[in-house]
Amino acid sequence: MEKYRICGGRPLVGAVDISGAKNAVLPILAAVVLTEEVCCIENIPNIADVSTSLEILTALGATVRRLDAHTIEIDPGHLLTHVVPHDLSCHMRASYYFLGSLLGRFGVARTSMPGGCNFGVRPIDLHLKGFRALGAEVPGQLDNGMIEVKAESLVGNAVYLDQVSVGATVNIMLAAVRARGLTVIENAAKEPHIVDLANFLNSMGADVRGAGTDVIKIRGVEYLRGANYSIIPDQIEAGTYMAAAVATGGNVLVRGVIPKHLESITAKLEEMGAVIEELEDEDAVRVSCNKPLRHCTVKTMPHPGFPTDMQPQIAVLLSIAEGTSFLTENIWDNRFKYISELRRMGADVQVNGNTAVFQGVPRLSGAPVKADDLRAGAAMIIAALCASGVSTIDNICYIERGYEEIVEKLQALGADIERIYVPSSTSQAM
Ligand code: UD1
Repeated sequence: MEKYRICGGRPLVGAVDISGAKNAVLPILAAVVLTEEVCCIENIPNIADVSTSLEILTALGATVRRLDAHTIEIDPGHLLTHVVPHDLSCHMRASYYFLGSLLGRFGVARTSMPGGCNFGVRPIDLHLKGFRALGAEVPGQLDNGMIEVKAESLVGNAVYLDQVSVGATVNIMLAAVRARGLTVIENAAKEPHIVDLANFLNSMGADVRGAGTDVIKIRGVEYLRGANYSIIPDQIEAGTYMAAAVATGGNVLVRGVIPKHLESITAKLEEMGAVIEELEDEDAVRVSCNKPLRHCTVKTMPHPGFPTDMQPQIAVLLSIAEGTSFLTENIWDNRFKYISELRRMGADVQVNGNTAVFQGVPRLSGAPVKADDLRAGAAMIIAALCASGVSTIDNICYIERGYEEIVEKLQALGADIERIYVPSSTSQAM
């Protein structure tokens, strides 16, 4: 069993390079099966969810070749099957993007209900509503845990999303790019990764317009060609290092970012007293903080609001900000499980429904804690970095699903963090 051991109290100082965005690369890897030609994708982060996506592509019959640490060539010309193996799809929520892309390529797709982080009910009814609108048959119930969608032919249509959903927007885009006629997605998600997917599809010859607004229009094309494409930087990884810099009273240059994507995060950190300088020419932001944090109110919203994927990380800052702070989660109904771990480190937090109320404490103290999910795990790291004493973090496999070389990147910023091996029989005691 592996854990992180962190000795807190050191300000993070230096520069960190941000990897390609997890939430962009996973839909884009699924989109590759929409062409029969070779695609070359650059700026791919080395994270576990990417490995799972590449295994899925290989299992489908694609040839996957790594050209360098962050560049991968994929030849999907000779796919053998439209079935995503259960043992791969159950590990990762984004496996459901292969439903849209395989449906677009073959008119049929089969996968199991997706896995991924558990923060409440994660329905896929809007994805299925979109597939139905395009003419696909969608079963009323699962077949042996698997879901199969199929269509004689896909025909463009209007789809209104009752709720803004990143996943449903992606899946409908994937199914619609090779459908006949025009698809209009209303109340679409506007996240940077939606725009990145649209740019990738357009570079393959698709006709997708309006990505980044709440109406996306997709005129289907018969044929998509191979493409070379570079993934955008990870907004959430950048936000995580920004929050870590602030929590530790450090001074960090966060490089390789698109500052515009960070605006909602920057605004909250500044409100709390951090100093953030956007260096547009260098694609970087400098983040520093040398005074006590001020309390504030944060509400998660679809983009361009404050991202739900930064909610646990900002919670650590609210734990140590002076006064009373409020954090409201508007996307998921059960994304506060990690609060009990923060309390073990001395945070004073009460959860009322979808709002957590923080009475700031001067300092957290190190403790053995666990990662409840990917972003909750990132929050535990930030908490441990700013706490006094030693913390250990369990369940790090969640963290490694979405953060490339997090230990090495933090060590380079001066953090006292290491990966330790603990025999599983003794791990409970730590
Ligand atoms: C969401 C976040 C995304 C984040 C990811 C993981 C938003 C809008 N999306 O994306 O930024 O990276 O979680 O934390 O902030 N829903 C339905 N039916 C559906 C699909 C979704 O009711 O078919 C609901 C969900 O229950 C949820 C909301 O819509 O309350 C947003 O879900 P969605 O955007 O699809 O989730 P993800 O794509 O996982």
